Amino acid sequence: MAAQRIMARCDELARITATPGRGIERVYLSPEHAQVNRVVAAWMREVGMSARQDAAGNLVGRIEPADREPGGPALVLGSHLDTVPDAGRFDGIAGVLMALETVRMLRSPGEAETAAPGASGTVVLPFALEVIAFADEEGTRFGAALLGSAAVAGTWREEWWQLTDAQGVSLREAFVEFGLDPGRVGEAARRPEDLVGYLEAHIEQGPELEGREESLAVVSSIASARRFDITVEGETRHAGGTPYDMRRDALLGASEAALAVERICRAEHHIIGTVGQLGAFPGAVNVVPGEAKLSLDLRGELDETRDRVWQQISDEVDAIMARRGLHWRAQEFHSAPAVFCAPLLRDVVREGIVSTLPRGADEPAQIFSRAGHDGMALAGITDVGMLFMRNPGGISHHPDEFVSAQDVRAGLQALAEAVLHLAAERR
Ligand code: GLV
Ligand code: MN
Ligand code: MN
Repeated sequence: MAAQRIMARCDELARITATPGRGIERVYLSPEHAQVNRVVAAWMREVGMSARQDAAGNLVGRIEPADREPGGPALVLGSHLDTVPDAGRFDGIAGVLMALETVRMLRSPGEAETAAPGASGTVVLPFALEVIAFADEEGTRFGAALLGSAAVAGTWREEWWQLTDAQGVSLREAFVEFGLDPGRVGEAARRPEDLVGYLEAHIEQGPELEGREESLAVVSSIASARRFDITVEGETRHAGGTPYDMRRDALLGASEAALAVERICRAEHHIIGTVGQLGAFPGAVNVVPGEAKLSLDLRGELDETRDRVWQQISDEVDAIMARRGLHWRAQEFHSAPAVFCAPLLRDVVREGIVSTLPRGADEPAQIFSRAGHDGMALAGITDVGMLFMRNPGGISHHPDEFVSAQDVRAGLQALAEAVLHLAAERR
């Protein structure tokens, strides 16, 4: 029932998109962001939570413990509601909806049946529960990722206000347009002493669980990431009249650099580099490109390996550009260290998964997340734990992204059990 509701609601939220008929796209501070927050706020109230939008546009639901003073520390469950362009319907969204169903399951006995919809409820836990639906995990609109969770972690950076989207709208202008006050973003920050920890369920976004024929995994850590805008400069010349020996073709240099990224990263364990954007300028069919721009997303299990690989890539790109008479520069626009899930939260997630398995089953898988998550920002203020669900084909950031209702059902049981195990630890 609960898993079916999650699947149906993932379908429902998929209809809130800037590109109807052409896929899902819901970016930070857009009309779709406002709309999805309104819908999910109503679902928060339906399970007995209070719901508010914080000073950065995150949606925050809260339910108090039955036998403690209200206003005490909260365990935060959640994920994000923003998407990449042409997105799937589960990345982030499933985690938010699973958090809400967990609240429904843990609501004080009897309340769920007797309370009027929307009446404030309680949970029989030694802490409050919050559900945060983060507003910008993907970083699709302004380039810098994890803006929503960074605001909650109190690590918002002044220089972000100057970031602009593809239309030239600055983050500051978008805030105002959305109805938020840039001067008050600090109010979204939470104090470590008010938090018990952060637990997130998410699809794996990779093929490991499918390969192991298992539904769920404990996440051991979240990959470190660095992102760069790279510019290559050469010389714009006539495509017909310029012999090869006289060309300084920036696009060819950029292309060689992209191939070098693949070659170097393939040779390293647990490092992955992606060139997701490549542009040639001035961009005419009959002009040798004088400038090229490419992006680089570099991730690794450990910061040191990732940084050593970046040095290797830089040295190789130096050599490529020198050979071709080109110049290059890189501007880093995102950097996040690897985050290790807290041992206690790993344990309770493991216990949660074990509760879904037959007696004597193998130990649950422990895998590191190559994808980024809001927990990367939250780790600065609280313990972080994550649960992964099998993602058929490892397809994500794609309309065919999927997770089965059976795996969602198992994930939900594991998440609720994990919360109960944590409660038992803290009683
Ligand atoms: C977010 O999904 C990321 O890993 O880039
Ligand atoms: Mn994503
Ligand atoms: Mn995600």
